Amino acid sequence: MCGIVGYVGPKQALDVVIEGLRRLEYRGYDSAGVAIVADHRIDTRKKAGKLANLEAEIELDPLPASHTGIGHTRWATHGAPNDVNAHPHVSEDGTIAVIHNGIIENFAVLRDELIANGVKLRSETDTEVVAHLLAAQMKTSSNLADGLRAVCQRLTGAFTIVVVHSETPDVVVAARRNSPLVVGRGVGENFLASDVAAFIAHTRNAIELGQDQVVEITPDSITVTDFFGAPATVHEYEVTWDASAAEKGGYDLFMLKEIAEQPKAIADTLLGRIDATGKVSLEGIGLSDDELKSMKKIIITACGTAYHAGMIAKYAIEHWTRVPCEVELASEFRYRDPILTDDTLVISISQSGETMDTLMAMRYAREQGSKVLAICNSNGSTIPRESDGVIYTHAGPEVAVASTKAFLTQIVACYLFAMYLAQVRGTGFGESSSDIALELGRMSAKVDLVLDTSEAIRELAQEISDAQSILFIGRSVGFPVALEGALKLKELAYMHAEGFAAGELKHGPIALLEEGLPVIVVVPPQGHELHDKIVSNIQEVRARGAKTIVLAEDDDMTINEFAHHIIRLPKCPDLLQPLVATVPLQIFACEMATVKGYDVDQPRNLAKSVTVE
Ligand code: AGP
Repeated sequence: MCGIVGYVGPKQALDVVIEGLRRLEYRGYDSAGVAIVADHRIDTRKKAGKLANLEAEIELDPLPASHTGIGHTRWATHGAPNDVNAHPHVSEDGTIAVIHNGIIENFAVLRDELIANGVKLRSETDTEVVAHLLAAQMKTSSNLADGLRAVCQRLTGAFTIVVVHSETPDVVVAARRNSPLVVGRGVGENFLASDVAAFIAHTRNAIELGQDQVVEITPDSITVTDFFGAPATVHEYEVTWDASAAEKGGYDLFMLKEIAEQPKAIADTLLGRIDATGKVSLEGIGLSDDELKSMKKIIITACGTAYHAGMIAKYAIEHWTRVPCEVELASEFRYRDPILTDDTLVISISQSGETMDTLMAMRYAREQGSKVLAICNSNGSTIPRESDGVIYTHAGPEVAVASTKAFLTQIVACYLFAMYLAQVRGTGFGESSSDIALELGRMSAKVDLVLDTSEAIRELAQEISDAQSILFIGRSVGFPVALEGALKLKELAYMHAEGFAAGELKHGPIALLEEGLPVIVVVPPQGHELHDKIVSNIQEVRARGAKTIVLAEDDDMTINEFAHHIIRLPKCPDLLQPLVATVPLQIFACEMATVKGYDVDQPRNLAKSVTVE
């Protein structure tokens, strides 16, 4: 939700800021804008729509040279995505420019106060109030950081705010509460951004900011305090990937690149965590064996695709460890008064580590005395930082809004956790523990085999691209796979798609079936107790005129006569099947959107990181 960049240093600020915004555009693309400080004045350019519109605007109306600048790419909350509401917002006297990510919850009260004081607001945004409040505050504050600290004390809600002042070139100041902000430490230059991707081409040295902190950067200094001016301790770290990891690398789309990277992402997530005998070790888990042994219940909270990973985890955790496990939509969790005790373990799954619903759910769980374990792809993000322990997925940067490689690695991390828990509690896995762990080690190669079938899946998508609606059904861990397949299609191809547990069909959804409706069926491996039941479901669906597209094991011939199309999957243990079954559905959704001419990497109305509730 909104990408933010700030720069001070010897380079042309505009170039650095625009380049950073390009890398952050996945966070929001309703509008974009920049402000630069030069010759005791602030100049801004802002434009509705994608970054390209802003670049065209700057081409027509160039900005002066400057070494201090800020930039913003917006996912609209307050006010339509038009030129006026685009950030930066400037104070009436033109001295202050502000960009903001998040929601200022008390903005209506602050706006009324400003209006009563004669201020004329130009936009419908919550952000603009900060520009005017800060301009007023600067009459008494000794410097910009002091002024911003005073203003932040008056704000409620979630915000990352970055400001510049016309009279202080070479200074950018920012504040954060419940919204992401990282600092990039360069040599003779410094950076601010929502995500390290914005400055990774310049420096890999990053600093995490804590809650309620203000940072001032100049070319040679980084000063961090709390909202009251007390010096704050910060965590400095080195980013382990380089700029090329966040480039398309020869692919037309980030999504295609990220789908193709899945075998490596799985292998990287497993690296060093399973030994040759199948023993699992999880550094950083932050929970002692005694704590893991005493857990009576596990609750997984997550949103969207990460929630589907949690659903798959439930099957594995309960089967392998016999510990009861619930899965909750993070957005619902804390509002239903859940029962949480100190022997409940809450697992928060999040690619970004910044999803507000998931963050609030985990904070709530900790307040109630539960331990929280994060499964996360973003080093140093808020969710792992506030958790008792973390299992990092090593998917590398995921830029496309639709999650692919992060999802598969979340599933892998959940399997690792389940196996580790079974090991610690001595429950075994029902099957031979070491065998299944070693099978997990082979999944990367199996996902590679599925990728070899991409062309056939693309042809299928082209053939049925006129469909108005597509249903997905599955059983056991194939059910969350069906939900994920439907979610991918909704978010990318903007079409009606629903996932169902196949056993539920006859309880209602079967009424949706009509001649030619595509139904995609995820069939469990042969020998699974639900295999034959789902083969019956395929027949029921086909008997009602639907077009059956069946994902089944390589040598499963039982489905041949009932399937209009078959997508073959490599053989693997039942519970591990989602790793291979999801991939064709990702390719399918990507191709459906491409055929329809939609923007696959930046689907409408969405943003990669959802930092508002
Ligand atoms: C996935 O394709 C989605 N764009 C979305 O559902 C996402 O998984 C969800 O918003 C959770 O994000 P997180 O993993 O960063 O918390």
